[in-house]
Amino acid sequence: MKISVINGPNLNMLGIREPGIYGNGTYEALCSMIREHCDKRGIEVSFFQSNHEGDLVDEIQRAYGVCDGIVINPGAYTHTSVALLDAVKAVGIPTVEVHISDVSKREDFRQVSYIRLACVKTIAGQGFDGYLQAIDFLTEDK
Ligand code: DQA
Repeated sequence: MKISVINGPNLNMLGIREPGIYGNGTYEALCSMIREHCDKRGIEVSFFQSNHEGDLVDEIQRAYGVCDGIVINPGAYTHTSVALLDAVKAVGIPTVEVHISDVSKREDFRQVSYIRLACVKTIAGQGFDGYLQAIDFLTEDK
């Protein structure tokens, strides 16, 4: 079982950016937490973060034929990117959309998610734990 964890723009700034919304944990701490969770369960995991939409599309495409699941926090591209939606549709890999904050309680422009249309589940407002919940969802026997 191999999972790709993909994070979009500004998620490399975790710990610095708006700690009242995203908490004090860094991107590195997030990755360590996920790796530990996966190691305990014998899940292979890879990490990718980019501030560039096309690089995120490339990474989703790279997962084709390689990964069994994708956990993605597209950051602000959630609310704008048809390209990310199409990439997830193209590879056909079960994908969970994760948001650290509860986007449903934030600005109107955050209420739209294009990628959600191609995702098997959305987890929001659970902080870093949302990523672990996403991995559990993708790897549990269904
Ligand atoms: C986010 C929510 C988005 O609206 C925002 O642009 C982000 C982070 C979250 O994890 O809560 O960059 O995806």
